[in-house]
Amino acid sequence: MIRSVVRGFGAALPKRVVTNRELEQTVDTTDEWIVQRTGITQRYVAGPDETSASLGTDAARAALDNAGLTPDDIDMIVVATSTPDNTFPATAVNIQNRLGMTHGYAFDMQAVCTGFVYAVTTADSFIRSGQAKRVLVIGTETFSRILDWSDRTTCVLFGDGAGAIVLEGEEGEGTVADRGVLAASLRSDGSHKDKLYVDGGPSTTGTVGHLRMEGREVFKHAVGMITDVIVDAFDKTGLTAEELDWLVPHQANRRIIEASAKKLGIPLEKVVITVDLHGNTSAASIPLALAVAASDGRIRKGDLVMLEAMGGGFTWGAVLLRW
Ligand SMILES: CC(C)(COP(=O)(O)OP(=O)(O)OC[C@H]1O[C@@H](n2cnc3c(N)ncnc32)[C@H](O)[C@@H]1OP(=O)(O)O)[C@@H](O)C(=O)NCCC(=O)NCCS
Repeated sequence: MIRSVVRGFGAALPKRVVTNRELEQTVDTTDEWIVQRTGITQRYVAGPDETSASLGTDAARAALDNAGLTPDDIDMIVVATSTPDNTFPATAVNIQNRLGMTHGYAFDMQAVCTGFVYAVTTADSFIRSGQAKRVLVIGTETFSRILDWSDRTTCVLFGDGAGAIVLEGEEGEGTVADRGVLAASLRSDGSHKDKLYVDGGPSTTGTVGHLRMEGREVFKHAVGMITDVIVDAFDKTGLTAEELDWLVPHQANRRIIEASAKKLGIPLEKVVITVDLHGNTSAASIPLALAVAASDGRIRKGDLVMLEAMGGGFTWGAVLLRW
């Protein structure tokens, strides 16, 4: 049985760091409020020369280097983003071009903060069906460009960045001891649209729009949705939370992460948390967190890793894989 195995990982962050203290100068907020409610102390914000495509390309190059591969070895690129450089062509095609690739195919995936989980699941399906052999899966965002910087209830929460992994098809035994993606669980429910959305778009206002959110409403739904898909992914394999080495959650809010881990009985020592340094980077947050924890030696070959996310739509999902 073919398994989609992580061959390499990489990340890229904008040059500029914006601390909570800096935000105190521009909106009516405090470092204490932001840290207490979210765990965020700083975020990265893209400069004029940094875009979702440029950051995504840097992360892709880092992942290829880490895997010991070149763009020639890749036959598919899938990019999870809600902040594309252009309405079209896809940011994935832009990145393909920046990598000097004229072979293969590239496309974007839009599932907001759950984008990377959807993209990994999609890449896994393409690999297992024989449509692709090696896939660059990228999450890249410049949410700073769609924030209303005068709205303290949203602008303090988000940041920019990119992360990438290379998935490669490898023959496995078909057991849960295999390396690679073992199970996935995806969900969406559009009836929640008004709780988290962007108030513009090509087919409505003809503008890009700004992010709008009912934070309390999102919070109310988050933990239940996240834990449901995690339990579903475990159930598909027969594995349990006790056997998990690392939970790598979407980094929206430390309180949501802690409450989800607690509900599942996963100790915090097994949870990768980067929201303090990156803020919520939407589809980029999971591959950024993976890159941090794999670089510092926490996530090691053979480890059982659960990815999970929840975001606008609502969309939510989980992927269980062996690193
Ligand atoms: C956004 C969030 C941190 C707000 O925390 P909360 O405890 O729910 O706070 P509330 O929205 O109830 O607001 C409490 C008070 O803080 C104020 N407040 C909001 N943002 C503030 C800020 N940046 N600084 C200071 N005060 C702020 C509110 O105006 C409100 O004041 P009021 O009581 O006088 O009306 C929290 O709801 C959350 O994390 N939600 C999930 C958001 C998320 O992760 N979204 C992305 C999903 S992918």
